[in-house]
Amino acid sequence: MPYTPVWLMRQAGRYMPEYREVRARTTFLELCKNPSLAAEVTVTAAERLGVDAAIIFADILLILEPLGIELEFAKGEGPVIHNPVRRPADVDRLRELEDVNALGFVYEAIRQTRSALKPNIPLIGFCGAPFTLASYMTEGGGSKNYLHTKRLMYDDAGAWHAMMALISRGLVKYLNAQIEAGVQAVQLFDSWVGCLSPDDYREFVLPHTQSVIRGVTPGVPVIHFGTGTATLLELMREAGGDVIGLDWRVRLDEGWQRVGHDVAVMGNLDPVVLFAKQDVLREQAKKILEQAEGRAGHIFNLGHGILPETPVENVIALVEMVHGYRG
Ligand code: CP3
Repeated sequence: MPYTPVWLMRQAGRYMPEYREVRARTTFLELCKNPSLAAEVTVTAAERLGVDAAIIFADILLILEPLGIELEFAKGEGPVIHNPVRRPADVDRLRELEDVNALGFVYEAIRQTRSALKPNIPLIGFCGAPFTLASYMTEGGGSKNYLHTKRLMYDDAGAWHAMMALISRGLVKYLNAQIEAGVQAVQLFDSWVGCLSPDDYREFVLPHTQSVIRGVTPGVPVIHFGTGTATLLELMREAGGDVIGLDWRVRLDEGWQRVGHDVAVMGNLDPVVLFAKQDVLREQAKKILEQAEGRAGHIFNLGHGILPETPVENVIALVEMVHGYRG
């Protein structure tokens, strides 16, 4: 490939008129559970932007339903969980993911997307990492201080580890079913793990994330992504992954050095830069490409997902800029 490959987290979403049009006709959960619409949204975004990979349209929280969690996406509020896991007894009520086909709509969306997508464009499957899923399950939605999550973790390590292990066993089955349906790589989103101290990450999270990554079908590349992880990068590397996702709070060259040049890195433009004038956007993207020093193994991406109001033309300009860059 003559240029650095680029795709963008949350590239199919509300900033795009084509998405809003499909979304106007259904709820978000119905869209996720409708394979032909999910495939359409996935393919449209990848083709419109001219990116080098597609990510299957789904959500990290879909797996919570078969684990026994009641999930809703409330208008304007984001995810709401009606029966959060707060006490050790709540952990006992969780269900094992016995039947991986409870998420059969995701695999069907993958099959349809794979057959509609150009053969040279890889399709990425994904899941939430155990900590980020556990945080939604305990908080019942988004959170600032992760009070319920950390309280369970500190007060009853046994219940915490039991919950994390149950989630992790489900994730291994889920990712491998996505692989069987036709994805070329998988990504773990540990979006909220940056709230932890390095010691707590090592004790309460690392073994579980590691067990998920070790359980992925051999030979399939794993992207291990988190945000606010500048102090956790070495530990994330230890947990595993062929590609480590970096957010913008760390320089790409420094982050890469710390995880080691024997793994690939993905990142790390601040998604808010997409709101800037295009010459600023180009300058910021160039700085990241320069830090990669032309080394193989850099996948250009944002440091977190595209924000809802992002101008589409700037996203397209970014992709063109990365493709046109010659170091
Ligand atoms: O990247 C893609 O294009 C694929 C689709 C994708 C979605 N969610 C669609 C979505 C992916 C990869 C995700 C992952 C996801 N979901 C994460 C990890 C990534 C991250 O940003 O940290 C998280 C934390 C979630 C949970 C989630 N889903 C939240 C907090 C929200 C509400 C906030 C928001 O951004 O709207 C969602 C809803 C959601 N997931 C939407 C989309 C397109 C918007 C729903 C709508 O259309 O109203």
